[in-house]
Order: sequence, then structure tokens, then C-alpha cells
Amino acid sequence: MGVKIVDTCLRDGHQSLFATRMNTEEVLSALEELDNAGYYALEVWGGATFDSCLRFLNEDPWERLRKIRAVCKKTKLQMLFRGQNILGYRHYADDVVDMFVKKSLENGIDIIRVFDALNDVRNLKCAVDSTKKYGGHCQIALSYTTSPIHTIDYYVELAKEVEKMGADSLCIKDMAGVLLPNDAYELISKLKANTKLPIELHSHCTGGICEMTYMNAIAAGVDIIDTALSPLSGGTSQPSTEAFQYALAGTDFDPGLNIDYLKKAADKMTKVKDKYLANGLLNPKALTVNPSILKYQVPGGMLSNLMNQLKAQGAMDKYEEVLNEVPRVRKDLGYPPLVTPLSQMVGTQSVMNVITGERYKMVPKEIHDYVLGLYGKAPGIIDPAIRSKILKGENLKSINHRPADDLQPEFENFKNKYKDICKCDEDVLSCALFENIATKFLENKYNPKPQEDEVEEFNLYI
Ligand code: CO
Repeated sequence: MGVKIVDTCLRDGHQSLFATRMNTEEVLSALEELDNAGYYALEVWGGATFDSCLRFLNEDPWERLRKIRAVCKKTKLQMLFRGQNILGYRHYADDVVDMFVKKSLENGIDIIRVFDALNDVRNLKCAVDSTKKYGGHCQIALSYTTSPIHTIDYYVELAKEVEKMGADSLCIKDMAGVLLPNDAYELISKLKANTKLPIELHSHCTGGICEMTYMNAIAAGVDIIDTALSPLSGGTSQPSTEAFQYALAGTDFDPGLNIDYLKKAADKMTKVKDKYLANGLLNPKALTVNPSILKYQVPGGMLSNLMNQLKAQGAMDKYEEVLNEVPRVRKDLGYPPLVTPLSQMVGTQSVMNVITGERYKMVPKEIHDYVLGLYGKAPGIIDPAIRSKILKGENLKSINHRPADDLQPEFENFKNKYKDICKCDEDVLSCALFENIATKFLENKYNPKPQEDEVEEFNLYI
């Protein structure tokens, strides 16, 4: 059995390179060829694609999924699911999580990859149970980061727990691309020795080491790797699919992909990429190696966010200082992995600490909620002195239970509230996740207002 490959070009590829802006027509343009290439699965939905469809592309994300499913007859479809946050940015009640899982599977998803930023398995349980209940393949992804807490043993213990929870497979999700080749060898070897689960590795090329990391993981027995078709590979994205097919062909690890179909798909996707290079959404900088992420251990997207925040405040001279503050804030807060939404929260706190000249003088509400346990359990210990500074001396107790236990069922409320603009449960779910933008989108979808240029044309002929 060779190494299996999941191609990410239609989800993480464009999410990492040009802010998830690929539209459905472009997604479909090479899909037949991709479906024929022999992949284990295609990652096509979830992550930021749902938000992007509604917010930027005036598209129904559910329709995109159905169209993909209609073309993709042979290959499994995979999505990325942020645990209790689903595809949004807050915790949702269990009935919304359950319905979202049900509808994702009904509309064509086969594999749901579910993760939690803090690796708090309580935040995964509902999505995992629902995926199993409705017959989907449930993959649990562990957010990979480095810290005194996040040792190889930590991941091995978590993997055992995840296996007990009923996961069908396990993914190491190295969102920042900081997993070093030798660590990958040790990590994958120990995971293989301690669980029966198939192991998948997901990393990014940002720091320039990803191919080496993948090769060591393959030598250690990893079952599946995430790569992206060449036009959408490299830089802040995954390594190229074709490179791994050529490198492993004829060995025991041969992924068995059809090079002719890959080439045909790549020719079509190159046209898509060229459009985003020309319109500036794909910055060539995103395609070059950035070793700073290995020094600072922060994801590429977070580096550019920090730069934008500092530029907006005319404080670019503080960039280095902020980058050095990030690991200190992480330590204070018990080493949260830097993935959505924690990457934004830790980044903003670091900027505030440097700009105001006094650490934790200003604290975003999200950090306040985090120390109260409202995002789940911190991986390590939150520094007690920092905690009391963040809470401004208020004697507030942190919660010890699963944050979603405090949430009442909310699906029926959304259904009633938006009964005039929703035609199906999928519409209700869109409103539940992105209330403001989804309601506007649906109003326009079902009752389109005449376009302005059409009105003008009409007036012309009166
Ligand atoms: Co990724």
C-alpha cells in the first residue's frame, strides 16, 4: 500500500495563498480531472470557504458543495470543521453543531476533519458523535505547536484519547508549518506504535522544510499526506502533489496518482492562479520561503496580520518587539496553539502590550473570556498574576465545564426568526453561523432586486 494523498487545492490551497477567493466556477473547472487522478480524497469545503462564499462571492456555500459532489463521482470529499465553532468564530449550541454535521454529509461530504484550537477534546465531542451518528468518516485533527507542554508524549496521550472517542482517523495539523523533519519522524513513529488509527499529516511550506518533514513522516509510516496541486502549492500552502507522485513513484510508497490527469488539472488551475496573481490577491511574497516562522513559531497568516495592525497604527518600528512578545504572551496564557481564533487573540494582545508600553494594560474581551475558560481548557497553567491583571482584580471564577454546556438549543429559534427568508435547513444554518451576511445574501437570492444598470437601461427605453 502506497501513501494516500488528499489534495487541498480547492480549500487550504487558495485559503492560504489568496484569502479563499476562488469562486465555484473556478473550483469546478478542473474537478473532473481531479476526480479521475486517483486521490484518496479532495479537501473542498469548510474552513474559510463557507464564510468567503457568503461574504465576498455572493454564492451559496451549500450549492457549491452539491455542484462539487455532482461532478466528483469517484473521490471522497473532505471538509475542515472547527469543533464547537463549526465554521464560525464562537461556540454554537449542540443542536446547531449536530444539524450542521448532518447537512454537510447529506449534501456530499464523506470525511469531516474536526479540530479544536486548544485541543480540548470536550469541544470536539458533539461534532464527533454526530459524524458517527450520521455515518460519516470522522477524522480528529490535533493542533500542532511547540511548547514545554506540547511534547511528543502529549500528542501520543491525546491520540489515545481520540481513538477512544471513536475517531476513524487522526491528523496532525501543523497549521504554521513548524514541525521539523526529525520531530516528525519521532512523532509519527510513536503515534503508529500507540494507536491503530490511520495517521494523516497536514503542514505548510511557509518555512521551507515541509517536503523534508513529509519524507521523514513517510519513512516513519504516515498513512496519508496533504498536498496541493502544483499551481496552488508552495509558499504558505502545501507542497506540490505532483512532486510527491514523481518522488515516490515505483517505491513502496507510490501514491499511484495518474500524472496525465494531474497535468490536465494543473493546466486549468494555472489559469485560475494567473488571474489572482494579475489582480493582486495572490501576493508573490506568499510563494517565497519565510524562515522567520521557524524562529517565532507563528503561522504565516499571523505574521502578515501583525504587520497590517502595526502599519495601521504607524508603528512598524515595533514589529520585532511584537514578534518577541508573542511567545511571552503564549507562556502567560498557558501556551495556546496559534490557530484561529487564538492566533488573532494572542497577536492582538501582543500588539497592545507593546504599543501601550505596559503589559496587559489593555485586554481584548476575547482574552478576558479565554482566562475564564470560555474557549475551553488552556493547555498549560495561566500565570496567576497575569490572570488577575487581565481580570482587573475582579474575583471571577473560571468555568471548569465544557463551554457549550451553558448554551441552550438555538436551531429552532433561528428557524422561527428567519422563517420568511429561509427555504430549507441549510439556509437556517447559514443564518445561524453568519447572521448578518447570510440574511442579506438569502434575501437577495430569493427576491433579487433589479441590478442598477438594468434599471438604467429600462429608463432609457421609456
Ligand atoms: Co492548513
